[in-house]
Amino acid sequence: MRRTTQKRLFVVVWTRNEEQRDSSKRTYIKLHNSTPINYNKSFNGLEIMSILINNLNYIYMSETPYEKTALSDINIKINEGEFVGIIGHTGSGKSTLIQHFNGILKPTIGKVTINGLDISKENLKEIRRQVGIVFQYPEHQLFEDTVYNDIGFGLKKLGMAREKIEEQILSAIELIGLDNKILHKSPFELSGGQKRKAAIAGVIAMKPKILVLDEPAAGLDPVGREEIYNAIINYRKENNATVILVSHNMEDLARLAQRIIVLNEGKIEMEGTVSEIFKKSDVLEKIGLSVPQITYFMKGLKKYLPDINDNVYTIKEAKEEILNFIKKRASI
Ligand SMILES: Nc1ncnc2c1ncn2[C@@H]1O[C@H](COP(=O)(O)OP(=O)(O)OP(=O)(O)O)[C@@H](O)[C@H]1O
Ligand SMILES: [Mg+2]
Repeated sequence: MRRTTQKRLFVVVWTRNEEQRDSSKRTYIKLHNSTPINYNKSFNGLEIMSILINNLNYIYMSETPYEKTALSDINIKINEGEFVGIIGHTGSGKSTLIQHFNGILKPTIGKVTINGLDISKENLKEIRRQVGIVFQYPEHQLFEDTVYNDIGFGLKKLGMAREKIEEQILSAIELIGLDNKILHKSPFELSGGQKRKAAIAGVIAMKPKILVLDEPAAGLDPVGREEIYNAIINYRKENNATVILVSHNMEDLARLAQRIIVLNEGKIEMEGTVSEIFKKSDVLEKIGLSVPQITYFMKGLKKYLPDINDNVYTIKEAKEEILNFIKKRASI
């Protein structure tokens, strides 16, 4: 019932972009996004969007000789429960953008609304309760005497009861795959992978409705990456959370995200579903990005097997496509 309502609400809001919207898939794609968003934030009293960004511009060190425009004319809407990937070349503005999601940065021009709360006007405490951000290399911010105190730091600041804090810490470390035994160690005794997990656990222990992660798996080995991604997937499922993942790894985004936003020099270059974005390899390559390696492999294969479908973005899809192709050939 709730899902049906959400679907209906989605249609109400998105009608403005009728010409760009693929109504059957609840997704859209457009180049050079600059259409201001209608701030119809609720319908029948229910929130529709997790994040609404209208005409966001951000300038570092404004009105000084070092002034730097990091974001221009950004319009984004992210629906509750969505999994959105953000990609862009180094310096394209990804980290600057996500720091607006909990009010660490405030728009120089424009408006950012989180579950109906304007970050420039509201008390940031409530917004920060709703939005948890895992920054790049979060382990650099571990500072308490024990892992337990580090993970529980935010919960303690909320004034939560001791038993409840313990419950949320234990549930967070179970989700992220850390052993109870490390809780009373110093964070500095942990391995690199364990430190990263402990830092992420500190954010998910707060049970944010919106979880934002800036390259959470960077520098980890494949097993560590998988464990962290599995924890994110499970957290989203269990809490119906909105997840926003910044990553340079196209393979990871192809299999995880429902929608991808591409930033280039502080502007939105395009946005759409995984296939809509990765079909545009020419646009991505022009701005210093790429499609997943498996897609290049399938494009290479197509030179020898013209009938094979090369619009494939994950290893799983490639395996299915190749097996289907062989089966079809065998039956001719
Ligand atoms: N504190 C700052 N003061 C001045 N300029 C900054 C500051 N932080 C970022 N910038 C500039 O703003 C632009 C966007 O930076 P940002 O860190 O958001 O990019 P990014 O996409 O996250 O890059 P990366 O992939 O390297 O993490 C860059 O030109 C950067 O040099
Ligand atoms: Mg960054």
